[in-house]
Amino acid sequence: MTRAPLSLFGLHGSRPLAEQVAARLEIALAAHEERDFEDGEHKARPLQDVRGHDAFVLHTLHGGEGDSANDRLCRLLFFCGALRDAGAARVTAVAPYLCYARKDRRTKTNDPVTTRYVAAMFEAVGIGQVITLEVHNLAAFENAFRCPSLHVPAAPLFAAHFAPLLRRVPAVVVSPDTGGAKRAEQVREALESLRGAPVGAAFMEKHRSGGVVTGTLFAGDVRGRVAIIVDDLISTGGTLLRAARACREAGAAEIHAAAAHGLFTGGAEDLFAAGLFESVVVSSTVPPFRLAGAARARLTILDAAEPLARAIAACHDAG
Ligand code: R5P
Repeated sequence: MTRAPLSLFGLHGSRPLAEQVAARLEIALAAHEERDFEDGEHKARPLQDVRGHDAFVLHTLHGGEGDSANDRLCRLLFFCGALRDAGAARVTAVAPYLCYARKDRRTKTNDPVTTRYVAAMFEAVGIGQVITLEVHNLAAFENAFRCPSLHVPAAPLFAAHFAPLLRRVPAVVVSPDTGGAKRAEQVREALESLRGAPVGAAFMEKHRSGGVVTGTLFAGDVRGRVAIIVDDLISTGGTLLRAARACREAGAAEIHAAAAHGLFTGGAEDLFAAGLFESVVVSSTVPPFRLAGAARARLTILDAAEPLARAIAACHDAG
């Protein structure tokens, strides 16, 4: 049986990352055009025949740089719908950063469960498969999507980055809230296995209600050790700063921040100005367009294109 040809599209605003993924796959990005209209509407269409193709569309769904997360979401949905209508055999949405993933449950009466509504929209336009990297809550993501979903963990990236830096210094992986404990544990295990030496675990208490963050409990021994605080994303940077202050008070010798997605919304410069972090490490799923010179120069960005390319190749091979 001959396999369907693979086409990879990169939508406006995600083009550099899509080009890097295409390079890893040793293919050229498939041709398409996007037009923006005066009233804010837009249209996108493939410029090549996709009939019978295994089509992948990469669009990272953060807001900013001229379009909101909603604009980007619409662009991805409509283009995927157009590919289905043009006869693509299967359309896979590759959203390295998936918007609305944090609204995965009701925290107030009558709250929306937006993750589930986003999943329903993906399926409504004929998207047959979804790939994302380090989602906020893996169980909620997998339950929201009825179509096959592939989650690319950031743990191997972080472990490969930190393992050579630590050498023989004792290290602890810290979760800044209990919700992220499994994520931190994945990084801890990956780091331990790469280093061949024990790596500790620590946790910070955090509750958020009505935009107010509380909780002061800190569990784990970081005294005299290198603390690596791991989160899914950095928005204002407040979560990482709280955890870093707790680590410093508990006697950590050195503190690093590692988060898959660097959104860096208002106030995130404080992360760099606070003088607490030896390094702040993110992946390339979201360009650091909101960070100005000095902060940007101090940011370490790990390559997300390689694991995304591997995920696309695996999906295509599995058919
Ligand atoms: C929340 O539970 C997430 O995992 C992140 O910890 C949070 O969104 C980070 O936001 P900020 O940087 O504004 O504290």
